[in-house]
Amino acid sequence: MKRTSTVVWAAAGGACLALSVAFAAVSAGNPVEERQAAMKAVGQSMKEGAGINSAATFDAAKAKTIMESVAANAKKLHGLYPAGSDKDAKSEADPKIWENKADFDKRLTELGTLATTASKATTAEAYSPAYKAVGGTCKSCHDIYRTKKKS
Ligand code: HEC
Repeated sequence: MKRTSTVVWAAAGGACLALSVAFAAVSAGNPVEERQAAMKAVGQSMKEGAGINSAATFDAAKAKTIMESVAANAKKLHGLYPAGSDKDAKSEADPKIWENKADFDKRLTELGTLATTASKATTAEAYSPAYKAVGGTCKSCHDIYRTKKKS
C-alpha cells in the first residue's frame, strides 16, 4: 500500500511540472478544486456557527460538530497548496503563499487550533469569543494571500 501511494505522489509531482496544462487536464482531484471546496465548507460552517452565537440559540452539540468540521478542513488544507498551483486560472491563491509558506501554514494551524477550542465550548459565554477568534483568521489571511479571481 505504502509503495502505491509513493508512486501516486511521484506521478503528482511530475504533473506539477506541467503546471496549468496538467491542472486543465485533471478535472477531478486537483488541489485547487479541493482547497476551494474545503474553504467553501469552512465558510458554510462559519455561517452555521453564527446561527448558534447567542445565549438563546447556543447548542453545545452543534458547536462541536460545526467547529470540528472547520478544524478537519483546516488540517486538510495544509496539503492542498503544492508549489505552482497558483498558476491555475481558477485559483485565487496569491503567489506570496509560496514565498511565505511557513507563515501561511502557521495561519492554517491557528485556524484549526482556534476551531478546536470553539468546538469544546459548553456555554454561549465561552463559545462567542472562541467563534469570533476563528472568524478573525479568515480576513487576515485573505487580505494577504487571496487575490481576486484571475480570468
Ligand atoms: C491560511 C490562510 C487562510 C485562512 C486562515 C482562511 N482562508 Fe479562505 N482562502 C484562502 C486562500 C488562499 C483562498 C483562495 C484559494 C484558491 O482559490 O486557490 C481562500 C478562499 C476562500 C473561499 C472561496 C472558495 C472558492 O469557492 O473559491 C472562501 C469561501 C473562504 N476562503 C472562506 C474562509 C473562511 C470563512 C475562513 C475562516 C473561518 C477562511 N477562509 C480562512 C486562505 C485562507
